[in-house]
Amino acid sequence: MNWLITGGCGFIGARLIARLRAEGGHAIRVLDNLSVGSRADLDTVAEHTVHGLDRVPELTPEQPVQLLVGDIRDPAADRAAVQGVDVIVHLAANTGVIPSIESPDFDCETNVLGTVRVLEAAREAGVTRFVLASSGAPLGEQTPPIHEEKLPKPVSPYGASKLAGEAYCRVYHACFGTRTVALRFGNVYGPGSANKGSLVAKLIKQALGGERWTIYGDGTQTRDFIYIDDLIDAIVRAAQVQTGGEIFQIATGAETTVNEVADQLETQLQLQGVSVSRGNEPARTGEVLRNYADIGKAREMLGWEPSHTLASGLARTVEWFLEQRAS
Ligand SMILES: NC(=O)c1ccc[n+]([C@@H]2O[C@H](COP(=O)([O-])OP(=O)(O)OC[C@H]3O[C@@H](n4cnc5c(N)ncnc54)[C@H](O)[C@@H]3O)[C@@H](O)[C@H]2O)c1
Repeated sequence: MNWLITGGCGFIGARLIARLRAEGGHAIRVLDNLSVGSRADLDTVAEHTVHGLDRVPELTPEQPVQLLVGDIRDPAADRAAVQGVDVIVHLAANTGVIPSIESPDFDCETNVLGTVRVLEAAREAGVTRFVLASSGAPLGEQTPPIHEEKLPKPVSPYGASKLAGEAYCRVYHACFGTRTVALRFGNVYGPGSANKGSLVAKLIKQALGGERWTIYGDGTQTRDFIYIDDLIDAIVRAAQVQTGGEIFQIATGAETTVNEVADQLETQLQLQGVSVSRGNEPARTGEVLRNYADIGKAREMLGWEPSHTLASGLARTVEWFLEQRAS
């Protein structure tokens, strides 16, 4: 297939590209404004060539990944990027709750307007498959497990903007027949997450930098942590599913406290000779207390199942960070 991956230089995008490259037979184009991910990040997974928006070559399998440096909010960049594409995996976003609270309008511009513009370019070009990276954030404060039938009650601008993205995906399916699928990712961790401020990456980076761990609140808040390769498998399946207008929770179904993750990481790091000191900071606004997902719908309709345990995933992630430090 011919893929457009928006935000393809980021954590999830780069790992998706690595997977598609390993599988073979795919042509890949990336649209990224390099605000977070970089050409060097893309280089770690695939050879690439950079193209101007006015001269985008045809997509051909096994050629280097095509990188278009541009912004999803720019309709001209979106129109250039979607040419000749079979499926769009839309990852580019203002990510995370805290940045969205700092600037709700920027969050909205990127995650709502940017998403509508990519959808619109897809419609104009006749691209029929579209996978949106959503999150648990649209659901907000809920009694878990969260699932697709729960009434969304976002508690952050990020939750609201991802919810709007989901709604537009549904609308583009209803009005224009685009096969849109929105995947609500759990907390993704794994190799390649050096740019991330999410829990696992942050704790490993702090430990390797000799800094004290900052855990917000008392650490009893829970999340559903999903290993990157399980997530990538779900994205690849969603890109091929014969349905549209659907939302899927993509997580593990396990409720894990922040303290449990910290304990397991401490053990892994100590095994590698890295010592850890721990401290707590006040809980942050907009973050939910409990969160884990019922993944029954993804199991049934995508035929998907996560296969990595938290222990094995954390061990691989620590190893990857240590390899990066060594190199
Ligand atoms: N990582 C997680 O735990 C997680 C959880 C839930 C949802 N998500 C969603 O998954 C997607 C990918 O997340 P990630 O962890 O890979 O993030 P990331 O920040 O590592 O990657 C995002 C990429 O998008 C690019 N980008 C940002 N704004 C852009 C714009 N306006 N135009 C073009 N490119 C732009 C950045 O340069 C970056 O390379 C996001 O939509 C995020 O909201 C991630």
